[in-house]
Amino acid sequence: MKNFKRYLVTSALPYANGPIHIGHLAGVYIPSDIYTRYLRMKGADVISICGSDEHGVPITLKARKEGVSPQEIVDRYHTMNKKAFEDFGIAFDIYSRTSNKVHYETASGFFKTLYDKGEFIEKTSEQYYDEEAGCFLADRYIMGTCPHCGNENAYGDQCEKCGTSLSPNELINPHSTISGSKPVLRDTLHWYLPLDKYEPWLKKWILEDHKEWKVNVYGQCKSWLDQGLQPRAVSRDLDWGVPVPVEGAKGKVLYVWFDAPIGYISATKELTPDWEKYWKDKDTKMVHFIGKDNIVFHCIIFPAMLRAEGSYILPENVPANEFLNLENDKISTSRNWAVWLHEYLEDFPNKQDVLRYSLCANAPETKDNDFTWKDFQARNNNELVAILGNFVNRTLVLTNNYYGGRVTERGKTDSNDESVLNEIMRFKENVETCLETFRFREALKEAMNLARLGNKYLADTEPWKVIKSDPERVKTIMNIALQITANLTIICEPFLPFSMEKLRILINLNELKWENAGKQNLLPPGHMINKAELLFDKIEDEEITRQINKLLATKKTNEENNSKTTPGKEPVTFDDFTKIDIRTATILEAEKVPKTTKLLKLRIDTGIDIRTIVSGIAEYYEPESIVGKQISIVANLEPRKIKGIESKGMILMAEDKNGKLVMVAPAEMVSNGSMIK
Ligand code: MF3
Ligand code: ZN
Repeated sequence: MKNFKRYLVTSALPYANGPIHIGHLAGVYIPSDIYTRYLRMKGADVISICGSDEHGVPITLKARKEGVSPQEIVDRYHTMNKKAFEDFGIAFDIYSRTSNKVHYETASGFFKTLYDKGEFIEKTSEQYYDEEAGCFLADRYIMGTCPHCGNENAYGDQCEKCGTSLSPNELINPHSTISGSKPVLRDTLHWYLPLDKYEPWLKKWILEDHKEWKVNVYGQCKSWLDQGLQPRAVSRDLDWGVPVPVEGAKGKVLYVWFDAPIGYISATKELTPDWEKYWKDKDTKMVHFIGKDNIVFHCIIFPAMLRAEGSYILPENVPANEFLNLENDKISTSRNWAVWLHEYLEDFPNKQDVLRYSLCANAPETKDNDFTWKDFQARNNNELVAILGNFVNRTLVLTNNYYGGRVTERGKTDSNDESVLNEIMRFKENVETCLETFRFREALKEAMNLARLGNKYLADTEPWKVIKSDPERVKTIMNIALQITANLTIICEPFLPFSMEKLRILINLNELKWENAGKQNLLPPGHMINKAELLFDKIEDEEITRQINKLLATKKTNEENNSKTTPGKEPVTFDDFTKIDIRTATILEAEKVPKTTKLLKLRIDTGIDIRTIVSGIAEYYEPESIVGKQISIVANLEPRKIKGIESKGMILMAEDKNGKLVMVAPAEMVSNGSMIK
């Protein structure tokens, strides 16, 4: 393994259009903070970079909705989110923002360099234009029906129902989200990064040279690369963003995903005049912490940009996490389905470590995971209180009771004492290996095992009994228990910084160095410790019930808001209606479309033929359970290729107010191909 001289740790810049929630913490910021704290304790030259992503359509949409300026929105959430990170001990070296001057200069300079080198393709194409609002409709400014799954609320850049990434021109029945009007096509000029040109290089760099990347990350990259890359537009017709720095680009800004990752560079510049050594020296190890929806941007597009520029290093690793759900439901800002950091701290003041702990223990490292309040309570009561807190408390209380807080000499040791002392080193090494390979859940488990070892040691040696028969022996036992305690303050520090700082104060340990972990004499005989104080306390059922009730109330509000039925559509002529060939059919075979979560491939008997239809119902139906079912289909919908499969027609589904899909079936068995009219 290569030895690096320094580390550059980046954490995805959150959009400044809403507060930070537990999903953000678990996916990105807790892992990056643990990693950075560990490196700092090792004395490494490390900087941790983050900040607000202040461009992009989500921000201007939010501003429009509230009737305020985008700047007002980003100011509000930048301040709020910066504070939330500080409150939770997420110790960035800088929390910058992409609306500041350094960033504008850096991002424009970067674009200009690529432009001057001739790295872009300049192309005029037809794009949707809203004549009422007088502007082009990029990304989320346009909505319509998804050509793949029929979702009527797909965005111009993505369908959230089937997860496909889209371009506005693919939408059926597009409409403007600004005015609601039907947009027209107009010519517009944009700059494209020819990703196809970088494909062979990316294939080698990722698929051959970075086989050690996490399976979920490697897999997503491979599937993008296998599908083939296309030139990608890096500019937009918008008025919020970094202006495109070339002649004749009035009203055009850099695409948010072009400028945001450059934000990592700008923030480093803002932090230190010595920024170039972090970005341009091959001896720097750069690591990007992100969520899975950011993988393509950090593993493919940004590296291609860096490579095109030519003077920058590339990431060594991109340990992306999957998503965290909350009580079995997708976290959602718009549905208020989240635990917000600022609200958590109001309800659980000074319990940052409890949340840090339960989110790390439950981190969505290899698959999506679920946060539940019951689990949170159990992690606190059964692990933090019962294992770590209990061990430390017994050790401190006994040392105070027996010796007035003075660390005793370690006298004659037996073989159990020796093996316990030697094991401490093993914990240090195990935690280290896990952290270096981004396995934070396991690292935390191993750190807690040291406290478990301490508890077992006390239970086996029973100093509270032995004190009567062999007081000399107890001096040795308490010395060893205190050495374990001192080691815990180091090994648990990256995970539980608030509690370990408190514990170091309790035992008067000033030094915090990773290399001290594993040592058997961190607290020398005669050293004085302070009176015991509890590190953690029990969380009662009532507190958990209150949180669960809060979520139930949110659910109820959402259901009430959703219960409005979709308004009726414009009248159509009977002729129009009869153009649609709706008929009954039977499902003969059903299977999941590989590498998708929502799509099923169905073989259908339509009475006229046997054909394939791809349908976005995998979340609602198990393939085995629908074989033989009679259904209704639109038989004459133009065939479409979905994930490389030719789909001929569409299954009719009823969508309830919660978005759940149910198949529409004839009330009684009829022959296949019966017309529905
Ligand atoms: N704002 C983006 C998101 O929340 C992340 C941007 S990461 C950066 O998904 F690299 F572009 F900065
Ligand atoms: Zn779709």
